[in-house]
Amino acid sequence: MDPGPTSRSVLFGFLLLVSLILHVSGNLVFPVSHKFQGRRGQWSLSELKAHDIRRHGRNLLSVSSSAVDLELGGNGHPSETGLYFAKLGIGSPSKDYYVQVDTGSDILWVNCIECANCPKKSDIGVKLTLYDPKDSSTSQSITCDQDFCTSQYDGQLPGCKPELLCQYNVVYGDGSSTAGYFVKDVIEFDKVSGSHQTSVTNGSIVFGCGAKQSGQLGKSSEALDGILGFGQANSSMISQLAAAGKVKKQFAHCLDNVNGGGIFAIGEVVETKLKLNMTPLVAKSAHYNVVMEAIEVGGDVVDLPSDTFDNGDKEGTIIDSGTTLAYLPQVVFEPVMKMILSKQPLLKLHTVEDQFTCFQYSENVDDGFPVVTFHFKNSVSLSVYPHEYLFQLKEYVWCSGWQSSGMKTKDGGSMTLLGDLVLSNKLVFYDLENQSIGWIDYNCSSSIKVRDDSSGAIYYVDAHNISSASGILIGRRLLTFLLFVICMLLQISI
Ligand SMILES: *[C@@H]1O[C@H](CO)[C@@H](O)[C@H](O)[C@H]1NC(C)=O
Ligand SMILES: *[C@@H]1O[C@H](CO)[C@@H](O)[C@H](O)[C@H]1NC(C)=O
Ligand SMILES: *[C@@H]1O[C@H](CO)[C@@H](O)[C@H](O)[C@H]1NC(C)=O
Ligand SMILES: *[C@@H]1O[C@H](CO)[C@@H](O)[C@H](O)[C@H]1NC(C)=O
Ligand SMILES: *[C@@H]1O[C@H](CO)[C@@H](O)[C@H](O)[C@H]1NC(C)=O
Repeated sequence: MDPGPTSRSVLFGFLLLVSLILHVSGNLVFPVSHKFQGRRGQWSLSELKAHDIRRHGRNLLSVSSSAVDLELGGNGHPSETGLYFAKLGIGSPSKDYYVQVDTGSDILWVNCIECANCPKKSDIGVKLTLYDPKDSSTSQSITCDQDFCTSQYDGQLPGCKPELLCQYNVVYGDGSSTAGYFVKDVIEFDKVSGSHQTSVTNGSIVFGCGAKQSGQLGKSSEALDGILGFGQANSSMISQLAAAGKVKKQFAHCLDNVNGGGIFAIGEVVETKLKLNMTPLVAKSAHYNVVMEAIEVGGDVVDLPSDTFDNGDKEGTIIDSGTTLAYLPQVVFEPVMKMILSKQPLLKLHTVEDQFTCFQYSENVDDGFPVVTFHFKNSVSLSVYPHEYLFQLKEYVWCSGWQSSGMKTKDGGSMTLLGDLVLSNKLVFYDLENQSIGWIDYNCSSSIKVRDDSSGAIYYVDAHNISSASGILIGRRLLTFLLFVICMLLQISI
């Protein structure tokens, strides 16, 4: 599971490449000119009135975006499911698909009918379904000359002919990958229509039809139908729905590590304490990155080299719901672990699966171990409690979920990546409209308040827990953030 030093350096090379691509395509500015500029004097009153009526009509349409409630299942326990997933309806007639929610990658894809090595059965306990474009009356192919494809690859690919499908290939942080082609179809989702109430609505979006999976994605131990990338790139589902005026680019998750499932909602979360705890996103990064400034363990500031958080043009700290654990650079990991374990000097440590530091402990871990608090720009803090960063392997045996991401290297360096271990039991709000992200401790089995844009009303959205047979899984995918999208053309015609 641990990527190891070799694959890790490969990983950083790829990450750099992705951000280069994003820099080029992320900077387009659309010139806006007012249609009536300089002509006002020549307009009759009735013309102006007609224009204003049309304008108001348009404004009404443009504020009709709704809040969306995605049903969640799963949990963040490394020794159980180790991931959170959502249910989506795709196609006509609509079929249910279970996809991992991943804020570290940028496309939605589901296993496709052509897939020979896709898992047929899942140890997570959900029923798997292959997407068959021929089985859906609303399915459309995306060819390499279409806008979606050319914008993905920053221009038309060499050798593109109008009948060639637009192919994708995504490699995730753990080395697993998915390849296939893009299709467009109707996605069904639950619009928030009142407090504790939803109604079905739909939107047409482009997603990947996964024809070939490798690594963990081909194994049934943790199999789902696909991955729902909630990244900022305009290929993601939220970006496409926002471009169509269906939703705002704001969403929140509350991953429930106590009961499983939790809350995943698109829309503006209304919570005063949360608004006061928002930190800016690092501009032009490939992921949701924030700037960490300090770490405290049990109230004592961790003494770190002065350049530890001096990110320069590097990525900062990655916030990623698709990763189970939390990864700290070796220079941070070492003192943090030392300070945590210093509270219990008599523990006998042993290593499990080559990566987890484990020990016997029979008391309440929250009484025996310190709280770890991260501090970010804008005086925003995030506390992780012992029962969150320690997980129980078996009775009286606990393991630490903190992982080292390795030593700093000159081409990239070690990363700081905060996954479900840190994000669970928090209400995390991604405000892409304002390029900021924030969180507060929260009971993720309860409900959150979201604003309905069209009426201005505030509605409650409840927690869900898609029931699944819980099983102890062996091969978990611990790092799933997007690594690399390569451009390729499927050499088959449609
Ligand atoms: C999508 O929603 C619209 C409006 O509610 C409805 O008319 C249409 O039939 C739906 N399409 C599908 C494929 O469900
Ligand atoms: C993505 O952005 C590019 C340019 O920024 C644009 O040309 C393209 O149409 C967008 N694609 C989608 C699906 O919105
Ligand atoms: C936008 O985010 C910044 C923090 O990055 C915050 O100070 C500001 O209040 C936010 N604005 C709104 C309208 O939420
Ligand atoms: C969390 O909320 C649920 C549902 O409202 C409630 O049953 C439970 O007691 C709450 N848990 C805590 C620790 O407050
Ligand atoms: C959520 O589902 C899991 C697995 O089916 C179950 O163990 C757990 O009790 C459920 N939690 C709630 C709050 O229903």
